[in-house]
Amino acid sequence: MTTALVDHGAAWPLPIAGGSPSKRAVVDAAALRANTAALRRHVGEDVALMAMVKANGYGHGAVTAARSAVDGGASWLGVSSAEEALQLRTAGIDARLLVVGWTHPSSHSALILAGVEVMVLDATAVDSLAAAARSSGRPALVHIKVDTGMGRLGLRPEELGPLLQALRAQIPPVVLSGIFTHFADADGVDPDFTEEQHRRFVVAVDAARRLAPDLVAHCCNSAATLRFPHMHHDMVRPGIAVYGYPPPGATGVVEVRPALSMLASVAQVKTVRTGESVGYGRTWRAPSARRIATIAAGYADGVHRAQSNRGQVVVAGVRCPIVGRVSMDQLSADVTDVPAVSVGDEAVLIGSPGGPDSPDWLGADEVAAAVDTISYEVLCAISARVPREVLHQP
Ligand SMILES: Cc1ncc(COP(=O)(O)O)c(C=O)c1O
Repeated sequence: MTTALVDHGAAWPLPIAGGSPSKRAVVDAAALRANTAALRRHVGEDVALMAMVKANGYGHGAVTAARSAVDGGASWLGVSSAEEALQLRTAGIDARLLVVGWTHPSSHSALILAGVEVMVLDATAVDSLAAAARSSGRPALVHIKVDTGMGRLGLRPEELGPLLQALRAQIPPVVLSGIFTHFADADGVDPDFTEEQHRRFVVAVDAARRLAPDLVAHCCNSAATLRFPHMHHDMVRPGIAVYGYPPPGATGVVEVRPALSMLASVAQVKTVRTGESVGYGRTWRAPSARRIATIAAGYADGVHRAQSNRGQVVVAGVRCPIVGRVSMDQLSADVTDVPAVSVGDEAVLIGSPGGPDSPDWLGADEVAAAVDTISYEVLCAISARVPREVLHQP
């Protein structure tokens, strides 16, 4: 048998050679705390809040996001994999923690020992968790995931009966701690399908409560948390709203503000002559003499290559078009309209160091719209190579 060495990126971010990195993401932990607190107030005392901190806290840094959310009133945290859960436990975060995604049976003992709760959707997982619980001498807390219409992960409602039987046979050491579902279109214009998913969920919750009267029922992502209070049940699971980007159709319900800005330094400024090209594939040619700044961030840092000739950056408060292809480590912007740009100045790729109220704010949603994607993807894409600087540390 060969032993694989798994690089979980523990060495990231890279050490900074001196004072200033060539690129950075600035994360305002106070904004994350305040957003969580605002969501907490919205759902009221009787509903628990699970902050989704998967995918490195939607790019903000998993540990920063987790600590800030807990400080803001989240009593649960949600992640997508065993690795993400164990990373938080290793960092000393002891809030209740659920892995909403699939977990390999070989991770079950470690998860149980770390007090992490696990999603189940079939008897195989229940049996694996029961065996791991017996050998570790600790209970396995599980949440059933029901597919009420997303068509993705989860058991069909008609498969719930057999799963409850399998669970009954393994309680204890297995504990049925929760049941949940995920909405496919909670931010859509028409609420009908979400209402239908919710009706199916309520039937499943009633059946599961006969086995575990105290289980925690939860189904609301950010959009549903903000739009459908009658669906809150025992707990809500907002993600993107914690990071300050309420989904369309749910803006203004709760006051939240974006917490992240991404900046990269100008590495060179040069004048290109009429007709000269910039970047791979020569996809942009100067229509006249232009001043071009080469900026030290590219797709390896999470700048979408689709921003080539489409996106914008902000230099000295001025919106400047990205010209030519975004490459692995660099992008180019036309800074002809910026009165003074020098090497070492920072260009803003997302957000603004002045915060969301500053006139030059470039939201992740705006960056996303330029390349037909969503703020989630823009934020999650910020790679491990970009050091996160945390303001107002938890
Ligand atoms: C199971 C689950 N719950 C909650 C969320 C949070 O969703 P949102 O970020 O839209 O609030 C997600 C995110 O994809 C999820 O997968």
